[in-house]
Amino acid sequence: MQFKKKDILDMASLTVDEIELILDTADRMKEISTRPIKKVPTLRGKTVILFFHEPSTRTRTSFDIAAKRLSADTHSISASTSSIVKGETLIDTARNLEAMAPDVIVIRHSCSGAPHLLSPLVSASIINAGDGMHAHPTQALLDIMTVREHKGRISGLQIAIIGDITHSRVARSNCIGFSKMGANVIVAGPPTMIPMGIENLGVSVTYHIDEAVKDADVIMMLRIQKERQQRFLFPTLREYSVLYGLNMKRLKHAKEDVLIMHPGPMNRGVEIAPEVADGPYSIILDQVTNGVAVRMALLYLVLGGARNADTD
Ligand code: CP
Repeated sequence: MQFKKKDILDMASLTVDEIELILDTADRMKEISTRPIKKVPTLRGKTVILFFHEPSTRTRTSFDIAAKRLSADTHSISASTSSIVKGETLIDTARNLEAMAPDVIVIRHSCSGAPHLLSPLVSASIINAGDGMHAHPTQALLDIMTVREHKGRISGLQIAIIGDITHSRVARSNCIGFSKMGANVIVAGPPTMIPMGIENLGVSVTYHIDEAVKDADVIMMLRIQKERQQRFLFPTLREYSVLYGLNMKRLKHAKEDVLIMHPGPMNRGVEIAPEVADGPYSIILDQVTNGVAVRMALLYLVLGGARNADTD
């Protein structure tokens, strides 16, 4: 199968076949990171711009590493050190970047829809590295890859996503992605942090964490996104932690082979107890490892790699 998409904007626009191709390609890419010399010439001569309008540790670093492992050149731009602080618009910024002939622009932006706005304006491939509360498709892909690696399948699994669902682009992309791949997704959190109509993404809802934990094969904890809340949606962090935090006591009611995930950054002791985050069920750092592989696969595929490139 050939990958024909110019851009990676969200999970909704990827087909099951395309997701499987990305995951299979990522499985192959992962091996490159285990070699003594972690570099192949596949994307030599290609230019990748990392345009991060919001802070990031995992996504930005793993895209940078992914591009370099494939021998592409990378250039980073952040809002605070670009001419955006002088009033240049996003569209003008993108047109100026385009004039320097990049092959891929990876963009993270606080406004939902920013990558979609740029997509028709530039010939470079746009990869959405997280836009507002809307989508974080590369996170969902690495999450699906990590679960598939541990469980051998996605179809039929019970996935619980717990926390501040309203403000989470990770939650939205994972609801769509895991449902599309045949999993049953349940979201849980306080009523103030569950958006109206989330059921339209094909998921079920509970306001009780214990209900979500009980039958789950996978539990994904999310942090409270205070930076996107107009006002705090829970009386105190302590109360939130008592009612919605995942601790060892709660975990005793989960399946014996449950997997614990978190996209990061974690607020230890709030949504997840340290002993859970670092415990035997946690695959949180596997998610980070697979982030590099998935992003290598995406750069390779949007640049036509499956048609003409060499990963040996
Ligand atoms: N999961 C995630 O997007 O992490 P960063 O914000 O550090 O990139």
